[in-house]
Amino acid sequence: MTPGRQVPVQDRLEELREQIRFHGHRYHVLDDPVVSDAEYDALIAELRAVEEEHPELVTPDSPTQRVGAPPSSMFAPLPHRRRLFSLDNAHDVDDLRSWGRRVERQLEREPEGFSCELKIDGLAVSLVYEGGVLLQGATRGDGRVGEDITVNLRTIESIPLRLRGKPPEVLEVRGEVYMPEDAFETLNHRQAEAGLRLFSNPRNAAAGSVRMKDPAVTASRALHIWCYQAGVIEGGPKLRSHSETMEYLKDLGIRVNPENAVVPDLEGVERYVARAEQRRHANGYQTDGVVVKVDSLGDQDVLGFTSAAPRWAIAFKFPPEEQTTLLRDIQVNVGRTGAVTPFAVLEPVVVGGATVGLATLHNEDMVRLKDVRIGDRVLVRRAGDVIPEVVAPVVSLRTGEEREWSMPTHCPSCGNPIVRPDGEAVARCTGGLTCPSRLREWLSHFAGRGGMDIEHLGYKTIELLLSNGLIKDPADIFTLRAEDLLGFEGWGEVSVANLMRAIDAARDRPLASLLVALGIRHVGGTVARLLARRFRSLPALVDASEGEIAGIEGVGPTIARSVRDWAEDPENRALAEKLERNGVRVADPAPEGEHAGLLEGVTVVITGTLEGMSRERAQLAVEERGGKVTSSVSKKTTALISGENPGSKLAKAEQLGVPVIDEARFELMLERGPAALEG
Ligand code: IVH
Repeated sequence: MTPGRQVPVQDRLEELREQIRFHGHRYHVLDDPVVSDAEYDALIAELRAVEEEHPELVTPDSPTQRVGAPPSSMFAPLPHRRRLFSLDNAHDVDDLRSWGRRVERQLEREPEGFSCELKIDGLAVSLVYEGGVLLQGATRGDGRVGEDITVNLRTIESIPLRLRGKPPEVLEVRGEVYMPEDAFETLNHRQAEAGLRLFSNPRNAAAGSVRMKDPAVTASRALHIWCYQAGVIEGGPKLRSHSETMEYLKDLGIRVNPENAVVPDLEGVERYVARAEQRRHANGYQTDGVVVKVDSLGDQDVLGFTSAAPRWAIAFKFPPEEQTTLLRDIQVNVGRTGAVTPFAVLEPVVVGGATVGLATLHNEDMVRLKDVRIGDRVLVRRAGDVIPEVVAPVVSLRTGEEREWSMPTHCPSCGNPIVRPDGEAVARCTGGLTCPSRLREWLSHFAGRGGMDIEHLGYKTIELLLSNGLIKDPADIFTLRAEDLLGFEGWGEVSVANLMRAIDAARDRPLASLLVALGIRHVGGTVARLLARRFRSLPALVDASEGEIAGIEGVGPTIARSVRDWAEDPENRALAEKLERNGVRVADPAPEGEHAGLLEGVTVVITGTLEGMSRERAQLAVEERGGKVTSSVSKKTTALISGENPGSKLAKAEQLGVPVIDEARFELMLERGPAALEG
């Protein structure tokens, strides 16, 4: 407040609330804030302070009232003003077409358009506003009576406590409360650290969070809402279609999903469904289908309801990504760093469109925490490209015959002891590179895309070379001769020549690729590039002191210690020398050259898979030319390089108007600089 000028408290309160509502809507509903978080927090802090001094002026719709209501001891039943129907399901395109025919038959013509929406996998709620103020919030319950969870729903920032603009006298709106996938991961991480029960999926986490006894817990859970249906509107404008209603709700400050679209016919619906399924994992929240609604409200009236569901809508369900099956056994895998990881051997089951027989269990603690036992029926999840995992046991189906599992004391591959240092989550095999399993994994990492990127040298080939004693360490790859391989089944002149050529090409990889390939603990792509830029050769890095390494910006003491540990091991030094002897380039050339500085000031983001080069090498190529590669698209991004199967970054770039280029144009850009973006 300006000294000298006395602003009446009431005016200042209203001004503050108005500003907070405005910025809250920009932030939580539109995802487009216009002030910093700190400025927003300062407004809230001031409002709280003023309200504390004048408790008599606190109103139920004040932004400070999201938390603070007394915890309810029980959720009271709350009858819905109008019944919340559920939806009939379509499991394939045929079901969808039959529904379309029924609609046409009943209307005696084609409907005027279909509204298509993502089917959000969360918890259905109903919100009642009177005079623009949120009065009640309830679960769906049996559709007629729900549970009163008003105090909890008030804590969700994307639910307005008060509507914007000119609200109707009464509004009842329905939506799905959900937990974004990243918030779910964070929550489960926190639960695990605290030794608490894990939530099996974001939907359960959302449902559990909304039904907490203490609204402060709900408030801490990062929940969101997408609203998709108006139940009651009294004293509002005349609306003719569902899509018009959704626009109206949006104007009132209600959060409506931007993926909603109206299409003219069933073919349009099918295209929407195909696209939604393809982009299913790019939303950041879980969807389990598409809801299709006849758009015209007049048509909806003609169609009416069956006993359980509207005839004017249908839910197209995606194939499920979770299934239950029998856990036959738990075994362990030894990785390239010696990490011993338990995995589940399952009765094969079709989930997420593929048959799954093995699934990860992450680590020993996870098996404990999830209380998974051999012989359990378990929930298995496979979503997109993600490795299938065992989510949880179905405890209610236990017979008592199930067996608890414990980590073996000795490595099943080499017989050496398995140890788990205090305070670490990972158990390790102590066999070093005498462990065949570990050596195989390391070699396949060494030759893999993130490392030396040796084409034609996959897992199978490495197994062949190892079992025939042709290689014992990564350096041996570079002294392989064609005659060593000729004659093995499937290895003719052409395939052998291809492999030989690929090995030769890999001798010349940048130092950073070699550093990643060596598998030094804590040295991934980013750190490897920092190390390569500073030391320029492997011998220089091997001789560097811990202080010199830790002195690099972006490299901490843990990494420095780990690099030193690696360099002090005589076996590793011997390997470094052997690689050099066998013709592997262990130093980067000086940075000058025709391309130096070509991409100065350019920032790119890479999404999807590139055909001709690994992500690592693409990044190196940009950085060698003075450019930058970042992981998320912003207004400062010069271009998005989009490979096969781009993720959500593509939509983000399109939204921000950032140029999107394909791999061919990217290669042109590496040759000619940013000029390649034009024309
Ligand atoms: S409309 C009368 N739209 O799916 C129409 N429902 O299987 C009522 N859901 O109980 C529902 N996303 O919890 C509708 N865009 C969407 C939805 C959606 C998720 C849920 C909702 C409903 C269930 C029906």
